[in-house]
Amino acid sequence: MNWFPERHATPLVGRERELDMLRAGFDAARAGHSSLVLISGEPGIGKSRLIEAFAGELAESGALVLSARCDDADPPFAPFMLALRELARADPAELQRALLDSPSPDLKTLVAAGDDADPAAIAPRITLSGAEERARFFDAVVLVLTRLSESRPLVLFLDDLHLADEPSVHLLRHVVRVIGHSALLIAGIYRDTDLDPRHPLEAAIVDLYRERRATRLSMRRLELADLTELIAGLLDVPSNEVEIGLAQAIQAEAEGVPFFAEELVLHLREEGLLQHGPNGWRLAENAGPLIPQSVRSVVGHRLSHLEPRAVETLGVAAVIGTEFSFDLLRDVVERRSGVSRAEVQHDIEAALDRRLILERPPRQQVGRDAPYAFAHDQIRDVLYLNLGQIRR
Ligand SMILES: Nc1ncnc2c1ncn2[C@@H]1O[C@H](COP(=O)(O)OP(=O)(O)O)[C@@H](O)[C@H]1O
Ligand SMILES: [Mg+2]
Repeated sequence: MNWFPERHATPLVGRERELDMLRAGFDAARAGHSSLVLISGEPGIGKSRLIEAFAGELAESGALVLSARCDDADPPFAPFMLALRELARADPAELQRALLDSPSPDLKTLVAAGDDADPAAIAPRITLSGAEERARFFDAVVLVLTRLSESRPLVLFLDDLHLADEPSVHLLRHVVRVIGHSALLIAGIYRDTDLDPRHPLEAAIVDLYRERRATRLSMRRLELADLTELIAGLLDVPSNEVEIGLAQAIQAEAEGVPFFAEELVLHLREEGLLQHGPNGWRLAENAGPLIPQSVRSVVGHRLSHLEPRAVETLGVAAVIGTEFSFDLLRDVVERRSGVSRAEVQHDIEAALDRRLILERPPRQQVGRDAPYAFAHDQIRDVLYLNLGQIRR
């Protein structure tokens, strides 16, 4: 069970070292030594993709895999609640057992609220409550996780921790400190480039490293050979069908960041700037200077293929969040500019066609009614920045 898509056009390339570290963490957990692996890296380097691949491996292992992605718009403790609600859907009886005699009624309420209730309505009570209540809540989360990992290993993926709320960070640190001998692996993922030094995660990470409770995995940029394979995957040809010059040109711009490489290849293909020569795919003669200098302009350029109204619609979606539902988007767009339902539908289709957004299968919509997601955070960022402060 997991929220991971089978949406990738490309095979995973060049992440054996990283997968080995995760496998080692899992083996330790299986042997009863819980562990925390903290995966960090710049946007687009492939953090989420790595854990998707690892979760794919775990599918056969008999482990219980729960996952959540942090979003700065979410209420306190959302990542833990979202992960537990995933279990509430998949195996409610098991969750009930794990919650039996829970020391905190708050946890039960939050988890039981399931998909129907608005988490925002319930969650603040917990942060506002006193220290004792909060300690009970923390203990209750530890107890649930301990019980869930009794019969088989439990793996908890927490993506985009740099967007986590402070209470969640404190809870994470608490869990890691007290849960030493359980079959639990937590993989926490965050953007180190975007982490404000004052963000509570920064202090928590420093503590956990010092206490030797966390393993660090900092993601490297891709080598040329791996990048060539990625390009081949995108073009759906074998690697030897990609001319070295093309791979080098893309590497020069993307600097080993897979997201940039993908955007560049898509851009070149959309513009008809790739041609097949005697040694495979290569840049068209007139392509060189046309490669945009920054990814912001690549993304901007890809957006410019959409009708202006569709860009507006996506701009509204970008304000809603990294994930959004059709109904909410339609509601806001309709109110703002009187665009009809069919037109919003049309805009979404256009964005889906260009892989600017993705549709998530229902099982991935972990506890949120948000079937659409930006294909990458940076696409959302560009749209969001383009809006200007006042309209945002
Ligand atoms: N090792 C890899 N092999 C193939 N594609 C990759 C790899 N790493 C990342 N990608 C692709 O690059 C894009 C960005 O990766 P993502 O995991 O979203 O980055 P991050 O989470 O670090 O911001 C995605 O489309 C992903 O599929
Ligand atoms: Mg990511």
